[in-house]
Amino acid sequence: MKNKTFYITTPIYYTSGPLHIGHLYCTTVAWIIANYKRVLGYDVKFLTGSDEHGQKIEQKAALAGKEPQVYVNELVDSYKKMWQQYNINYDYFSRTTDPMHMKMVQTIFTKFLQLGLIYKGKYDGLYSVNDEEFLTKNQAVFKNGEYYHPTSGHKLVLMSEESYFFKMKEFQNWWLNEVNNNPEWLLPSKMTNEMISNFVSEGLEDLSVTRTNINWGIKTNEDPKHTLYVWLDALFNYVSALGFDLDNPGDDYLKYWENGDEIVHIIGKEISRFHFIYWTIFTKALGIKVPNKIYAHGLLRDKDGRKMSKSLNNVIEPEYLFSKYHDEMIKYYFASAITFGEDGNFSEEKLIDIVNADLVNNYGNLVSRTLKMISNSFPEGLFYKQSSQSEHLEIEGKINSFVPKFIELMDVFKLDKALEHTMNLSDSLNKYIDTLRPWTLTSQENKAELENILIRLLNGIYAVSWSLQIVMPNKIAEIAKALNIESFKLENISNFSKFDGVKTADKFILYNRIKK
Ligand code: MSP
Repeated sequence: MKNKTFYITTPIYYTSGPLHIGHLYCTTVAWIIANYKRVLGYDVKFLTGSDEHGQKIEQKAALAGKEPQVYVNELVDSYKKMWQQYNINYDYFSRTTDPMHMKMVQTIFTKFLQLGLIYKGKYDGLYSVNDEEFLTKNQAVFKNGEYYHPTSGHKLVLMSEESYFFKMKEFQNWWLNEVNNNPEWLLPSKMTNEMISNFVSEGLEDLSVTRTNINWGIKTNEDPKHTLYVWLDALFNYVSALGFDLDNPGDDYLKYWENGDEIVHIIGKEISRFHFIYWTIFTKALGIKVPNKIYAHGLLRDKDGRKMSKSLNNVIEPEYLFSKYHDEMIKYYFASAITFGEDGNFSEEKLIDIVNADLVNNYGNLVSRTLKMISNSFPEGLFYKQSSQSEHLEIEGKINSFVPKFIELMDVFKLDKALEHTMNLSDSLNKYIDTLRPWTLTSQENKAELENILIRLLNGIYAVSWSLQIVMPNKIAEIAKALNIESFKLENISNFSKFDGVKTADKFILYNRIKK
């Protein structure tokens, strides 16, 4: 049987500066979900990339005294270096300056014109260069004679220029119907409701999709003084990277998009408007498949819940974190300490606390004491035997029921709850040790009972490790080596004889305790 496909994307990040912890967070979470689906046997493709056009980038390049293309190339190199450093592998690195992408977006503009979905008019309104976003006066905040963006706080400029408009209004009813019929489509729902009340309930406005005073962007073929609005350009990266083409679409596009099973976009909540509303409508208007799910995560704040910003001097650089902590500690923190979809706080103290509690004291300790007891008493390996003793049955029950709940939680992207479930199993295994005190069972007549306990511990460690591999694959590969097995497989979890006669390493330390 053919494996189901799963295509997952991060936003493509603006090449207006180096990546920061927020980008690292988003990419890590999407990557973990991709790993999860791979472990379940899906045929997965994972995309990240860079959004390289627009006025903001044009201005930044000028400020740096560089040609825009040179400026963005340097940043893209630094992005790729960072993903490599953090061991985040991807299938596509999508760039909006890729000539294939640029050509494709031009043909889409032409298609929309032909379909009568784009018309020429004049834009009179507000624009945020920083957010590359159009706003009406009603949506903006007015303070001391100036207009500001309602969420980012960036200053808005008044703009009046000729522009082409996309007929968003025509899709309003379709969109609202879809939202009502499919509550799992755009998540979290509170964000969808916010989108409805801010942009749809009073009537969706047609969207200005070209600018005239910008050079750094994709020119329309029909009217070259018009440059395509960055969001029209950027959103289509999700299909151009797969080889989309109106006349002759590529294999990956057909396999992972048009005929694909699941298409999921992970984004930050501040760009929900563009994805929830405009991207879904663009795909519908073009007659291509509409993505199955768009999930908006929250923003990272500092330990006191303040927004991370240069002016508050509370930004934590990925480089700095990397120099102090193993990359998989950081990944574990992102997945376990932040509720996906909510804002979350980040602090080094909290990172240290979580690593020490979950990975050192709980799971790490479980592995190291189990291996030690095995090497002391069973250097040649263990064998599983059934037992009717209640403690043994109970722990076997926990191991057997572990996976369904883990899957149930991960399927709805409750990463923190899924990992809590993992740590609960690890904790139960530690308690099983504390209750049965296997270290006292060293005499010959207790040997069978000791073996009963230790083989169940190994099987429990297997289940815990199977789930943790989606977050920390490198450390878990080390564990596999210490357990003298190839890898952790879903179908082997409830086979308790898999460790029969396997000689495990005599010691293993996952991480040393981090001192504060
Ligand atoms: N270029 C657009 C996206 C185009 S997608 C077709 C863009 N780029 S961005 O560089 O500003 O990156 C935005 C994304 O980075 C957010 O949606 C979010 O995923 C992530 N984050 C940026 N700052 C963040 C935090 N402070 N916290 C968490 N994530 C943040 O928007």
